[in-house]
Amino acid sequence: MCLLGIISLTLLSSLCHAKPGNRQKICAVKASGSNATDDTPAIRSAFTECGRGGRVVFTPTTYYVNSILNISSLEDVDIDIQGKLLWSTDINYWLNHSVAVGYQNQSTAFILGGNNVRINGHGTGTLDGNGDYWYEWIKKQTNTSNYPGRPHQITFNGLTNSVVKGLNFIRSQMWTMSIIHCGNSVFEDILVNNTGNRVSSSNTDGADTIYSTNLTFKNWTVYNGDDSISFKANSTNIRVLNSHFYNGLGIAIGSIGQYKGRFETIENIRAENIYFSNTLHTFYVKTWTDDQNGYPPNGGGGGLGYAQNMHLKNLTVEGLRGAAFSISQCTRFSGAPGVGNCTNSQFQIRDVDIDGLKGTTKSSRVASLQCSAVKPCTDIELYDVDLEFANGTSAASYLCGNVKENKGWECTGPVCEGGSATGEC
Ligand SMILES: *[C@@H]1O[C@H](CO)[C@@H](O)[C@H](O)[C@H]1NC(C)=O
Ligand SMILES: *[C@@H]1O[C@H](CO)[C@@H](O)[C@H](O)[C@H]1NC(C)=O
Ligand SMILES: *[C@@H]1O[C@H](CO)[C@@H](O)[C@H](O)[C@H]1NC(C)=O
Ligand SMILES: *[C@@H]1O[C@H](CO)[C@@H](O)[C@H](O)[C@H]1NC(C)=O
Ligand SMILES: *[C@@H]1O[C@H](CO)[C@@H](O)[C@H](O)[C@H]1NC(C)=O
Ligand SMILES: *[C@@H]1O[C@H](CO)[C@@H](O)[C@H](O)[C@H]1NC(C)=O
Ligand SMILES: *[C@@H]1O[C@H](CO)[C@@H](O)[C@H](O)[C@H]1NC(C)=O
Ligand SMILES: *[C@@H]1O[C@H](CO)[C@@H](O)[C@H](O)[C@H]1NC(C)=O
Ligand SMILES: *[C@@H]1O[C@H](CO)[C@@H](O)[C@H](O)[C@H]1NC(C)=O
Ligand SMILES: *[C@@H]1O[C@H](CO)[C@@H](O)[C@H](O)[C@H]1NC(C)=O
Ligand SMILES: *[C@@H]1O[C@H](CO)[C@@H](O)[C@H](O)[C@H]1NC(C)=O
Ligand SMILES: *[C@@H]1O[C@H](CO)[C@@H](O)[C@H](O)[C@H]1NC(C)=O
Repeated sequence: MCLLGIISLTLLSSLCHAKPGNRQKICAVKASGSNATDDTPAIRSAFTECGRGGRVVFTPTTYYVNSILNISSLEDVDIDIQGKLLWSTDINYWLNHSVAVGYQNQSTAFILGGNNVRINGHGTGTLDGNGDYWYEWIKKQTNTSNYPGRPHQITFNGLTNSVVKGLNFIRSQMWTMSIIHCGNSVFEDILVNNTGNRVSSSNTDGADTIYSTNLTFKNWTVYNGDDSISFKANSTNIRVLNSHFYNGLGIAIGSIGQYKGRFETIENIRAENIYFSNTLHTFYVKTWTDDQNGYPPNGGGGGLGYAQNMHLKNLTVEGLRGAAFSISQCTRFSGAPGVGNCTNSQFQIRDVDIDGLKGTTKSSRVASLQCSAVKPCTDIELYDVDLEFANGTSAASYLCGNVKENKGWECTGPVCEGGSATGEC
């Protein structure tokens, strides 16, 4: 049923018409055309009208997102993004109003969740966080990591049986997307470009998963300076396939073990056919120590649990900047208090295998594995490794502390122990 008359009278914000031969209700979101007028009332009303059983269309124009959005409880909906959503640059507004993500005291500008949601950007739809302003601003602050209230561009919360595809995410304010309490969903054909136009970006992860299961990330391209993609607390059954990561830190596990006494796991992670250009690592794991120093987002420690069953295959690198595979159980963020004992973590890393790791590197370290003496890393397997410097010499150093049952390789020396946010000392 079309309710155009009622909508025009009440809000004048969305257009609605029935498609011939199709009972699906369609709401085209009306754009104000100027950043002086916030488009979020029109966006909210389109979802109220068409968010259950309908189709919400962002037409090929710019939508100005000047305030927070919380679009939850969607059911069986198509979201067609042909244009661009552009976030405002009123940093004071966002620091005061961004809403809780639900982990690590992180916050977000946009929550989206529901069941059977199909979001399609057709390769052109874009979410633009206007991050150049944030990148300049954060450089002037004393605490640059996880600044309280600095928002993620979008948080998928409670998204299930859904597909997000063909979208571009550019210049995120902070992390690009947090994915929390989600399951059985696919994120494919995605471009994330957080390359700053004026200064370099920081803390602009490609995606972070928390309390989520059965997710597929396929055909992602990420340009950033932090985690290309990161799997955090209670991320299970996750695949990342056929993707390209540029300039960032690579695929991250963690950080984890940040909450004292809390038991968290990461398991069944698979990565295949991944290309890394100028990244720091291909794959790295970061856990806090057993000593609690402060509280999240930037402090913490004392957590329990394990990360296990992580299988990576066919990794190709070009100009890698650090250890291809790194573990640090001594996580520390800048601005946070002292590190503690780097080998006392009660969080265990086990059953990792990397099969096929080839290309050029600038680091002699294939592996730098700094594990806990209390819960040593076990079952670490590396096969078919061929990393070379530009002059053709092989990279051949494998540094370890507290690694047991390695297969396919031998330790060549002791690893550095020390506080780290990025995987090596
Ligand atoms: C978002 O909206 C949902 C549904 O109304 C609500 O349950 C949830 O608490 C909201 N989230 C935040 C962070 O406000
Ligand atoms: C609108 O854009 C102008 C210039 O692009 C900018 O200076 C201004 O802060 C923007 N306003 C909002 C509300 O984002
Ligand atoms: C938050 O709002 C208050 C009151 O409007 C304002 O004084 C302050 O500058 C805003 N920004 C932050 C970061 O608190
Ligand atoms: C993080 O949030 C918790 C409550 O969820 C609060 O107790 C703690 O003080 C917060 N930490 C910081 C650094 O704001
Ligand atoms: C995982 O999610 C996919 C949809 O992305 C679904 O087809 C599949 O059945 C799910 N697997 C399990 C074990 O639930
Ligand atoms: C991968 O995604 C990009 C958009 O980011 C798209 O142009 C390309 O066609 C996709 N590749 C495949 C094999 O689907
Ligand atoms: C990423 O953004 C930077 C800065 O705007 C731009 O120079 C570059 O061409 C973009 N890359 C892609 C693949 O879009
Ligand atoms: C995380 O997973 C662990 C192990 O399965 C479970 O005990 C814990 O309750 C989970 N935590 C949350 C918040 O879901
Ligand atoms: C390995 O991954 C690369 C992309 O990095 C891809 O081009 C190649 O086809 C993959 N090889 C196999 C055997 O799948
Ligand atoms: C910076 O971080 C430290 C340690 O977490 C905290 O005590 C301090 O309040 C923070 N300062 C600001 C301005 O957030
Ligand atoms: C760190 O913790 C480990 C494991 O409990 C212990 O063996 C070691 O002595 C501790 N190191 C220091 C300097 O306290
Ligand atoms: C090749 O480059 C590496 C790293 O710069 C250097 O350590 C090594 O000595 C070089 N080997 C030769 C044969 O020049």
